[in-house]
Amino acid sequence: MHFFKFKNNELYAENVAVRKIVKKVGSPVYIYSLGTFLDHFLKIKRAFASIDCLICFSVKSNSNLTVLKTLTKAGSGLDIVSGGELFKALKAGADPKKIVFASVGKTEEEITAAVRAGILSFNVESEDELEAINRVARRLNRRQNISLRINPDVQPKTHHYITTGSKGNKFGIDMETAFRLYVEAFKYPYLKFNGVHLHIGSQITVSTPFVKAIRRASDFVNRLRRAGVPIEVLNIGGGLGIIYSNEQPQTAEQYAAAVLPVLKKLGVRIILEPGRFVSGNSGILATRVLYWKSSPTKTFAIVDAGMNDLIRPSIYGAYHEIVPVVAKKKAKIISGVDIVGPICESGDFLGKGRKLPRLIQGDLLAVMSAGAYGYVMASNYNSRPRVAEVVVRGSKFAVARKRETFADLVRGESILDV
Ligand code: LLP
Repeated sequence: MHFFKFKNNELYAENVAVRKIVKKVGSPVYIYSLGTFLDHFLKIKRAFASIDCLICFSVKSNSNLTVLKTLTKAGSGLDIVSGGELFKALKAGADPKKIVFASVGKTEEEITAAVRAGILSFNVESEDELEAINRVARRLNRRQNISLRINPDVQPKTHHYITTGSKGNKFGIDMETAFRLYVEAFKYPYLKFNGVHLHIGSQITVSTPFVKAIRRASDFVNRLRRAGVPIEVLNIGGGLGIIYSNEQPQTAEQYAAAVLPVLKKLGVRIILEPGRFVSGNSGILATRVLYWKSSPTKTFAIVDAGMNDLIRPSIYGAYHEIVPVVAKKKAKIISGVDIVGPICESGDFLGKGRKLPRLIQGDLLAVMSAGAYGYVMASNYNSRPRVAEVVVRGSKFAVARKRETFADLVRGESILDV
């Protein structure tokens, strides 16, 4: 469930008309429903309430500070992937003891900052990285928890750019190498090998691949235990799919029902890293129609948001529902409309071949399900300032991040006399 609904023929974010927000803040603008973030977070939390479990919201999907604050206040931990995300997490007031750090390429500076902050655990992706963390922990005289990210070689059905748990991609460590590393843990006296991590991909709508991967992980944990390696934590990653159009994804309860029997038998503490499930349907991107252009073969709605603001359609062919913010009941319905941005690239589109009422300049559209991997993947391409982020809670809304200015576009830049 999300809190973007039509009331009296216009779209509301919780109890605030989207039109009203755009009037005040301008367009394009990302609008987040904090109530939806909380609702989705609590759905997972409740589904896993019968087991010792920490939910670490995946910051990469949405790193807005107000969002992070809202979730951590509700008890969420955070899954981070960079020094920048660590900085933002701490800035938002997150408890370092609930932060896990993934990424195949953590730099020594990033590792140092995270060990210093006292994070819960690192999800380690290579032998070299183990040495790096051990070195840093020795220097800081700390004993650091780590999990190795194993590659369970499961191929979920999702976009090939976002599968991560199969052989031949850069993520994780194959099980045999991982086994050897756990057994050789004594070589790393500043590390505590107390967990196992896996993440098989994103936007996965059925539980079968999760169960398959978790079974493999569970066999692996048992094998480690038999070899005298005590594993206390299993981090099962994120990846739960959401509804963008007509998907029928598993609910949090169905997911839990499928994986809990395996997990309970194992007797470990569980960590989850959901991103999209919490943030995806918690945000929209509101954009304004600049021009309507028809040729004998095509119709375009040219809008003020482009691929620099929301890149998912361009790079993954991702579908986002696009609806008029104010329903145009009497307008003629046109089929085959491409909703495109102002960027100088043919790949700059938000939606293709859609059915929309005939729109005119100034009409507003909402690009739905844009709360995950939306703003965080935005860029300044074509020297376009990044848009504002607004948060809504009940009948109130506020700008949580200002629209960038032209001055922001040249921040840090010097004109060199060459
Ligand atoms: N944990 C790890 C180790 C991950 O790599 C990811 C996402 C997550 C958790 C969170 O996954 P989620 O629950 O959100 O599926 N930009 C792409 C998605 C990339 C996902 C990267 N890893 C998109 O827009 O679809």
